[in-house]
Amino acid sequence: MAILEIKHVSKLFGGLAANSDVSFEMTEGMIMGLIGPNGAGKTTLFNCITGYYPPTKGEVIFEGRKMNGLQPDAVCKLGMARTWQKVRPLAKMTVVDNVMVGALCRTNSIKVAREMAMEQIRVVRLEHRANFLAGGLPIGERKKLEVARVLATNPKLLLLDEVMGGLNPAESEEIIQLILDIKQKGKITQMVIEHDMKAIMRISDRIVVLNSGEKLAEGEPKDIVSNPEVITAYLGSE
Ligand SMILES: Nc1ncnc2c1ncn2[C@@H]1O[C@H](COP(=O)(O)OP(=O)(O)OP(=O)(O)O)[C@@H](O)[C@H]1O
Ligand SMILES: [Mg+2]
Repeated sequence: MAILEIKHVSKLFGGLAANSDVSFEMTEGMIMGLIGPNGAGKTTLFNCITGYYPPTKGEVIFEGRKMNGLQPDAVCKLGMARTWQKVRPLAKMTVVDNVMVGALCRTNSIKVAREMAMEQIRVVRLEHRANFLAGGLPIGERKKLEVARVLATNPKLLLLDEVMGGLNPAESEEIIQLILDIKQKGKITQMVIEHDMKAIMRISDRIVVLNSGEKLAEGEPKDIVSNPEVITAYLGSE
């Protein structure tokens, strides 16, 4: 069974179709890359999937259950968690407290939440920063904090929105390894928005290409990079 089914999803902002009749499925354990030019509708699709916006049309089905109309906190409890393209940690709280906010979606116990948070802080290798204020972290560490926070919600489906954006090559490599490690553990399915084509080629099992809100192509990475329409709309300009 598909873990996630996107069926004819459209999202209109006034006259602008940020998503237009987008359909695809994800199977459990896979990594789906989501690519396309700026303004293609990638972040909007994450917003529609995770309950931040209701889709104007179409359905989002997670583990066989229709998600339309559910609020983000309910979506998170059901097992979907997303990062934000513009990372906004709770700046005046420590790293561990930020990650505990994620864990508190699963437990009411502060003690348990702290343990869960520390576990994920170790996964992203931010132990040395656990008691630092989040607002003081450089961008590379903020991105890791963002990943730790969503992992602490114990998701089945993780949606990562440009977690490598603004990072240097060494930091990007750490994130790539983290994504591959998460996949190898086999419990979490991932959808990854990324502009770095080399990175997306390495990590994705399949790729969906959006352009002007529409799905332009879907396939294995090797087929996507040689697809003439994708080259014209996106890759040719890289
Ligand atoms: N809340 C909103 N209200 C009005 N228009 C919006 C809103 N959110 C997104 N848009 C518009 O929808 C389109 C798709 O935006 P979106 O942020 O989804 O693109 P994206 O593919 O994530 O781009 P990028 O690669 O730059 O992050 C853009 O034209 C954007 O201006
Ligand atoms: Mg975006």
